Formats: sequence, C-alpha cells, structure tokens
Amino acid sequence: MSNKEFTLTILPGDGIGPEAMTEVRKVIGWLEDSEDLSFTLHEDDIGGAAYERYGEPLADETLDKCRASDAIIMGSVGGQQWDNVDYNKRPEAGLLKLRKELQLFANLRPALVFDALIDASTLKPEIVKGLDILIVRELTGGVYFGEPRGIEDLGNGQRRGVNTQVYETYEIERVGRVAFDLARKRGNKVHSCEKANVMESGKLWREDMTALHKAEFSDVNLEHMYADNCAMQLLRNPSQFDVIVTDNLFGDILSDAAAMLTGSLGMLPSASLGAKGVAGLYEPVHGSAPDIAGQGKANPLATILSFAMALRYSLDCGAQADKIEQAVQALLTKGIRTPDIMANGCTEVNTSQMGDALIKELS
Ligand code: IPM
Ligand code: MG
Repeated sequence: MSNKEFTLTILPGDGIGPEAMTEVRKVIGWLEDSEDLSFTLHEDDIGGAAYERYGEPLADETLDKCRASDAIIMGSVGGQQWDNVDYNKRPEAGLLKLRKELQLFANLRPALVFDALIDASTLKPEIVKGLDILIVRELTGGVYFGEPRGIEDLGNGQRRGVNTQVYETYEIERVGRVAFDLARKRGNKVHSCEKANVMESGKLWREDMTALHKAEFSDVNLEHMYADNCAMQLLRNPSQFDVIVTDNLFGDILSDAAAMLTGSLGMLPSASLGAKGVAGLYEPVHGSAPDIAGQGKANPLATILSFAMALRYSLDCGAQADKIEQAVQALLTKGIRTPDIMANGCTEVNTSQMGDALIKELS
C-alpha cells in the first residue's frame, strides 16, 4: 500500500468542540500508525475562540489555511458569552463565512438509527428501526445570505426586520445534482421540499428540480413535498424517505427534526461540499453544548464520524471510513456509552475513555 499524505485544517471551536477534537486526533494517530496514511495538521480557531484571539470569528489567515487543505474538520461554535456581540462578529458568523467563502453549497446530514440506540429515540422502535435518511441541505444561499437584510428604524417607534429568500437556477441545480447522484448510490429516491404553495422561490425550486430530473436523472424517483408536510411525515412515517433535498432554512429545521428521530444528536456527523478540488468541511450536527463543556461528558462520536465522512468524501479513503464506522457500531453494541446515550445495563464512559475504547476496537 502506498503512503498517502493529506493536509487537514482542524478547527476545534467552542464549548465541547476542543474535547471532541482531542479524540479525533487519537483516530488520526491510529491511521498513521496502522493504515499507512500521513497527515499534516494545521490547527486554528473559529467562532468565539477566534473572536477572542483575532477579534473576528474567522480570520483571513485561518481561511487561507482552510483553502490550502484537503479537508477541514470542525468542532462546534457558539456560547452565551458572545450573545451581545454584533451579528457579523458572532461565533456563528465565522461558520457562515467559511461555508460561503468556500462555496460549500451541499450539506449532507445523515440521520441514521443505530440498532443499539433504538430505545434512545422518542419515537416507537418500530417506526425508527433501520432508519437511514440523508438530508441534502443547500448551504450557501436562501434567506441566510439574501439581500436586502437588516433592521430598519421606521422613526415612529416601530422597526422593521428584513431578510430575503432568494434562489437562482444554478444554485438549485447544483445541489439537486448532488442529491440525485447520492440517491443513485442509496435507495434511488429523492424528496424535494419547499413551499411552492406560498413562495415564488419555492415554485422556482420545484420547476428547476423537475427539469433537472427530466434532463439528467429520470431513473431516480422524485417526489415533491411541502416542507411543513415533510416535517410532519418525518415524525409520522420516516422510513418513506431516502434522500431529502431542500433549501438552507428548511434544511436547518428538517435536519434537526430528522436528527432527533435517531435519539442521539451526539452521534450525527455532517459534510459540507463545494466544487471539485475545494476542501470539504466536516462537523458534527450537534452544537457547542457549553453547559457540559470541559467536564468530560461530551460524546466525541459525532465529530469522529464527521472525520470518517472526510475520509470518504474528500480523501478517497472509504475503506478507512468503513472501519471507523464499524468500530463505532461495535462499541455501541458492547454498551459503551457517554452520558447522553447512557442506558440501563450499559457502561458509562467519559469523552476520553470513549476515544480510547474506539482505538482499542479499531486495533
Ligand atoms: C447548523 C447551525 C447553524 C445554522 C448555525 C450555528 C449558524 O444551526 O449548522 O445547523 O443555522 O446553519
Ligand atoms: Mg441548525
């Protein structure tokens, strides 16, 4: 096997991000020792940590490092201490800038129910058993970035808050292509979700998805669904879904709902992909959980599984990604649990012990 070399930018961020990233480093160490891969790591700050260090949540030098790497592994951003900071300096703004600058337009959010964790879901086991949904969320457009935006003083004691939902055909098509392509490798079904009944941008979304499907992907099953119905169907009968493609804001909301079906936000990774040759960004779906930060209670598996996605989608090391995912399954089956997924009869471990157990399983 030839030695492969990769450059990663590691952005631990805020809250439990740094603790989880320490465990990712153990996995990187294992890959170097056992799998003949080598990694050059550039570590830097994002979010509140970057605000404290650079005065902004994503410094230009950090962005340059990200551009020059094969993949970016992020922890999480945010915390109450930055609640009163200006919008464009808030921790979240750093993440939004990274997504936008690298044009990481396709956000892949798998919602997978691990058999061993089935009782952790708030839904009945027969509803969520074997669930495997992939949400493809558009990530660089829509109301998150649309202009005009702002809060305006109307001078009569009233103010007006404005955001703009806007999509152009190329944005809909490129995220649509990602969703259809992925569906072909899975269950061959795509649900495209919008609010075409009330929004012009939703009507365009539906028309462009229909045209793209007809032109390039007529072998894939396509269904259109209103986003509110999709939220309801996710709770009613989630196994009808394979791939869901939707806009930035609906994707934010629907992916949280789908994540909770699995009962384990601490287990869910995500990938944000742009054009070929651009570094992908890999981050857990969960937030920075400041309430448990620094206590060894965090579940590092979502961040580790995000790194596995990086191996698969950015580094062409699918075999190693498989090994990591299988080791995680095995740990869960053995009942090794961080507090967030603890259950009767299982063994509770802390963040670092979970990382160690995973390395042991991998070895
Ligand atoms: C997410 C988060 C972000 C978003 C925040 C942190 C800006 O909720 O990744 O889902 O709204 O996109
Ligand atoms: Mg969100």
